[in-house]
Amino acid sequence: MNILILGSGGREHSLAWAAMQNPKCDKLIVAPGNAGIALIAECARLDIEDGGAVAEFAGENNIDLVIIGPEAPLAAGVADRLREAGFAVFGPSAAAARLEASKSFTKEICDAAGAPTAAYGHFSTAEDAKDYLRTQSLPIVVKADGLAAGKGVIIAETLAEADAAIDDMFGGAFGGAGAEVVIEEFMQGEEASFFVLCDGTTVLPIGTAQDHKRVGAGDTGPNTGGMGAYSPAPVLTDAIAEKALNEIIRPTMDEMTRRGTPYQGVLYAGLMIENGAPRLVEYNVRFGDPECQVLMLRLGAQALDLIHACADGRLNGAQVNWADDHAMTVVMAAKGYPGGYHKGDAIHGLNGLPNDSFSVMFHAGTASKNGKVVANGGRVLNATARGATLQEARDRAYGLLDQIDWPGGFCRPDIGWRAL
Ligand code: AMP
Ligand code: GLY
Repeated sequence: MNILILGSGGREHSLAWAAMQNPKCDKLIVAPGNAGIALIAECARLDIEDGGAVAEFAGENNIDLVIIGPEAPLAAGVADRLREAGFAVFGPSAAAARLEASKSFTKEICDAAGAPTAAYGHFSTAEDAKDYLRTQSLPIVVKADGLAAGKGVIIAETLAEADAAIDDMFGGAFGGAGAEVVIEEFMQGEEASFFVLCDGTTVLPIGTAQDHKRVGAGDTGPNTGGMGAYSPAPVLTDAIAEKALNEIIRPTMDEMTRRGTPYQGVLYAGLMIENGAPRLVEYNVRFGDPECQVLMLRLGAQALDLIHACADGRLNGAQVNWADDHAMTVVMAAKGYPGGYHKGDAIHGLNGLPNDSFSVMFHAGTASKNGKVVANGGRVLNATARGATLQEARDRAYGLLDQIDWPGGFCRPDIGWRAL
């Protein structure tokens, strides 16, 4: 099987790694890829948000399966173009990707499906949003409706902060994403992520994870794309997972099918869990980054079979074989991230790291320059490891980072603290 993966981060490195563990993978191309991916696959330059260009490239390269990593090509309809051209695709249509691309759409689907989530209002003018705000209690959550690279959510402790967030959003701080605004009740509880595959009919859970969004130790400081993650998430017990499937995820999938826009791909449900009850925070229509890295290390080669079955509509009867294990990934980022940071530093110590089914250093923002690996993004490396216990996984992951010599980088010292 010839496989094309779209994307360039640690998520895509882990997807490529899992594909390469599977003997069914003949040729693997990743577009655009990064310096770590280039060690295990061919990397290609391609505008991954241009569906026509991706379909043409896939045809020229005899691709059998396209795996779409990030949300932007999904929202841009790349999966639609590829399916029209006859390719097996892992990733939802643009219509189904609205579950991530529009927060008000997701709330409307939750209403129709009876899925528990925060109470909300949806507004297209600042005046209406502010009027509603004054009927609600604090803290309150103000969200830009559209895709804002994870930055369009403000948790306001005061009315003044909420008003400012509303003004920013309608003022264009998030571009078109802020043309509409959702205001939500603040939910208490512990957050966890639940990942399922859906082929339009069958829903198959493939794992749980928790990530650390804040940049600083003790979950302090500004939000990031995620500084580390671990799987499984102890807070998402089997009973709570079953509730989430029956009350939130299956009703959502059924509603999408009823509307003529069945969902095909991985669905990432962000859940808030309080007193044994899950409520939906958000959906993402792709794997999380860095959550994907821990899921792939745990699933290994079978991940490709599951992804392929999902793309082909063959999930009915598919099974996940679980080892009773734990995985952790720790992000090493460029100093300054999530604010401004420097690019181009050489990273030493990557050669000779353990690289097996227990420890893998996935690359995120790296590039190769004159034969050297250099930092080329905010989140740069993902030290990922597996073990019989979370502690064992943690020790292996931090052990990998101990061997890295890159003075311009930093990591959180306390990934997994809640579970350890
Ligand atoms: P989102 O982009 O919707 O996932 O929001 C980003 C983060 O904001 C979530 O991971 C939560 O930590 C937090 N958040 C979003 N909505 C709520 C809510 N209604 N109540 C509490 N926290 C929330
Ligand atoms: N780590 C959070 C996300 O991928 O959205």
